[in-house]
Amino acid sequence: MGKVFFYMTVSVDGFVAGPADEVDRLFRWYFSGETEIPIPGSPTLRVSKESAEILLDASRTGGAMVTGRRNFDIAQAWGGKPPTSPCFVLTHSVPDDWAHEGSPFVFVTDGIERAIGQAKEAAGDKDVEIGTPTVLQQALNARLVDEIHIDLVPLLLGRGVRLFDQLTIEPTDLEIIRIVPATGVTHLRYRVVA
Ligand SMILES: NC(=O)c1ccc[n+]([C@@H]2O[C@H](COP(=O)([O-])OP(=O)(O)OC[C@H]3O[C@@H](n4cnc5c(N)ncnc54)[C@H](OP(=O)(O)O)[C@@H]3O)[C@@H](O)[C@H]2O)c1
Repeated sequence: MGKVFFYMTVSVDGFVAGPADEVDRLFRWYFSGETEIPIPGSPTLRVSKESAEILLDASRTGGAMVTGRRNFDIAQAWGGKPPTSPCFVLTHSVPDDWAHEGSPFVFVTDGIERAIGQAKEAAGDKDVEIGTPTVLQQALNARLVDEIHIDLVPLLLGRGVRLFDQLTIEPTDLEIIRIVPATGVTHLRYRVVA
């Protein structure tokens, strides 16, 4: 069984996007190195060797992702090619256009436990990636997260979408698994201590 992990780029003051959901400043590190990583349907990434190893490792071990409806809409369904497939989307209302057989998207209307459970089943031995703050916080509240991976960028955004604003957990220790400094970003990996 793989692990359930959160993965996101975060500013030093704890934001994952600006007030209009913009991520351009946060994502500068994806285009600040020499190693090219082609992404279907998106601009080719150019990252440092250290970052490339981390990104390629994650793409090898990723088996499913769980996201929220806002991210799905903002990304315009990644043009039908989500970063990891299958992609489970938590929502209260299922859109008509992507809920069909053969779609990489599965829309989940009955809660975080069900979304993570279905994603784990689909991923098998591979990992499940959680890709938004709203989903992360629900999953942490339900104690469903094994690891938190943060790409910390040297930036203060001041306002925008916060990583943490709805946590209801008791104080919880995190174990440092890995710290990798790279060009424009520090890759941090923590294990959630049970
Ligand atoms: N920094 C990065 O690396 C990075 C990467 C990607 C995205 N982002 C940013 O992340 C933000 C999006 O994340 P977010 O946390 O704000 O929103 P989100 O998780 O994408 O979406 C929240 C929405 O998902 C639906 N939802 C969530 N939990 C649900 C549940 N248990 N049951 C039913 N529906 C549920 C609800 O929508 P409905 O009620 O409408 O169905 C809810 O309003 C954006 O600002 C985006 O730009 C940052």
